[in-house]
Amino acid sequence: MKVTVLFDEESLTPDLKTGFGLSLLINETVIFDAGSDGDILINNIRNLKIDTEKICAVVLSHDHWDHTGGLDSLLSILKKPTIYLCQGFGHKYDHCKPKIKRLCVTNSTPVKITDDIYTTGEIYGTYKNIPISEQSLFIVRPDSTVALICGCAHYGIAESLELLLKKIGDYLGRHISVNCLIGGFHLQHESDTYLRYVLEKFLYFGIKKIVPLHCSGSNAKRIFHDTFSVGFHDLKVGSTLEL
Ligand SMILES: [Fe+2]
Ligand SMILES: [Fe+2]
Repeated sequence: MKVTVLFDEESLTPDLKTGFGLSLLINETVIFDAGSDGDILINNIRNLKIDTEKICAVVLSHDHWDHTGGLDSLLSILKKPTIYLCQGFGHKYDHCKPKIKRLCVTNSTPVKITDDIYTTGEIYGTYKNIPISEQSLFIVRPDSTVALICGCAHYGIAESLELLLKKIGDYLGRHISVNCLIGGFHLQHESDTYLRYVLEKFLYFGIKKIVPLHCSGSNAKRIFHDTFSVGFHDLKVGSTLEL
């Protein structure tokens, strides 16, 4: 299982463009989020020589422009994938139906996407005091632990981790531990005190590998780097990491 960064604010090489937002390719088959700009996303997919024939699913974590802006362009180069949305997004993406194989609308229950890749199903959080619906991905690793992949984690990554692991554990029918946490953690405006609280939660749950992207913030990256050391990974557009 591996993850490749397709869209974020820094890139490995000048031919890979950058922007505010997030898009990840999971194991060559699933795209998680579509960044904020279709031209940038397509440029990076082409320059990374991604085999678009293998991509069978597109998952939108939540209905924010920096995660959905590239969707229409993305669908124009893929071969009718299944797309996974939360029921809380409403009917905003009905116009995509002619370009896709199937629309899977998730409720609070996890759904298997392919191989060992699942969506957590819908989790509610708030953004600027407005309720927001969001889903994350989890991957079952060969050692049976999971890697959790977040878009923005507006539900509060530290506050919701216990609930998420229970939900995944109930779905898989066994106790779950999380090995790896990757994605946008929405911590860029948080105080050092709060970041220490988040860090303590991550350590309490035994997370070994931490990969902060997008809206995680430079302060959080620094604090996680100091604690996780070799378990900290600073990925840029074009980077691939084995999960
Ligand atoms: Fe975001
Ligand atoms: Fe967001």
